[in-house]
Amino acid sequence: MILVTGGAGFIGSNFVLDWLGGGLEPVVNLDKLTYAGNLENLQSLAKNKNHIFVRGDIADSELVSSLLNQHKIRAVVNFAAESHVDRSIHGPIDFIQTNVMGTFNLLECCRKYWGALSGLDKERFRFLHVSTDEVFGSLARDEPAFTENHRYEPNSPYSASKAASDHLVRAWLHTYGMPVLTTNCSNNYGPYHFPEKLIPLVIHNALKGKPLPIYGDGQQIRDWLYVSDHCSAIRCVLEKGVLGETYNIGGCNEKANLDVVHTICDLLDAQKPRADGRSYKDQITFVTDRPGHDKRYAMDASKIERELGWRPAQTFESGMAQTVQWYLANEQWTENVTSGAYREWVEKQYVGAA
Ligand code: NAD
Ligand code: DAU
Repeated sequence: MILVTGGAGFIGSNFVLDWLGGGLEPVVNLDKLTYAGNLENLQSLAKNKNHIFVRGDIADSELVSSLLNQHKIRAVVNFAAESHVDRSIHGPIDFIQTNVMGTFNLLECCRKYWGALSGLDKERFRFLHVSTDEVFGSLARDEPAFTENHRYEPNSPYSASKAASDHLVRAWLHTYGMPVLTTNCSNNYGPYHFPEKLIPLVIHNALKGKPLPIYGDGQQIRDWLYVSDHCSAIRCVLEKGVLGETYNIGGCNEKANLDVVHTICDLLDAQKPRADGRSYKDQITFVTDRPGHDKRYAMDASKIERELGWRPAQTFESGMAQTVQWYLANEQWTENVTSGAYREWVEKQYVGAA
């Protein structure tokens, strides 16, 4: 069995669905169900005996240790985190608690569990830590993409907390010999993406006739990867990754935010035209920039391609078309997650604009 943490969130739920869809080992899914965790994402697994969902905190050592021992876990994939940069600016404490203390606790529980294993079980055990390109900081337009050796220069409370967790993972390798792997991935998009993040927020607001908020001048650049490609990369690293190595994952799709929003508007104009016949682009609104906003991220993912043979299956165009289609076909999902608590967040973040 494998233990997936944060498997009710955006990437974690996609990972669990893909993993079990591919007929791989049973999964114990440990998730605290914060505002970002949603069991509706896993509804199709309700009767699947290979999926055991446990509501709980990765910082709870008793719970984590008992799950490891009870289910004889052979690998841990750690997605659980506070993941939204804007929320980390308003309130960093939860980011420190889950991303730093939670990862620390997972590592400690795994160290004790792995230490007591023997033979093949010990040899096969893996701890895969899912991290982000944001730990590397921000690039100027003409700088080469981040390689695995780029120095860590996190700029937000979110990225600093993820950087801290990466360093803990590294230290548990060097000090205790723990069989760890770390992946650093660029911006994901696709089904079940919580509508506080740019792409689902823009789709949701467009369909609701609300403003499409662009921070600053909209010229910040992100490298977008369709979520199922991130999931396939993680499976690949888990299977073939060299112990102790870190792997960059990216889509080679550098886009300015404004261009991403234009793409969404074009797709919606074609698939669900506005009643007044005008473009959704009319709803674009420039709003106050994010404090400390990183200008550009770009990933050099040549190591994982060269050494493990992974490359993304989707282009930006195919991934965006599928994403917009998914949101149009699943408007009820978005309705259900944009609850009272969501509306409070939007009010606070966009001061009445959205
Ligand atoms: P998300 O916010 O959608 O989901 C996070 C999940 O973790 C939620 O289900 C939440 O309930 C759970 N969780 C939070 N705190 C927990 C705790 N203390 N114990 C157990 N569960 C807890 O995040 P996501 O976008 O799916 O990101 C998943 C991971 O991938 C994160 O570690 C993030 O840093 C990393 N990552 C995300 C992206 C991206 O573009 N979204 C890119 C690279 C890396
Ligand atoms: O790069 C990987 C990271 O990508 C992950 O580690 C994070 O967990 C994930 O949230 C994401 O972080 P970003 O800050 O890049 O994603 P977000 O969708 O919040 O913003 C994308 C870009 O769009 C960013 O430059 C900010 C901008 N933006 C965002 C929102 C929500 C806007 O212009 N307007 C908005 O309303």
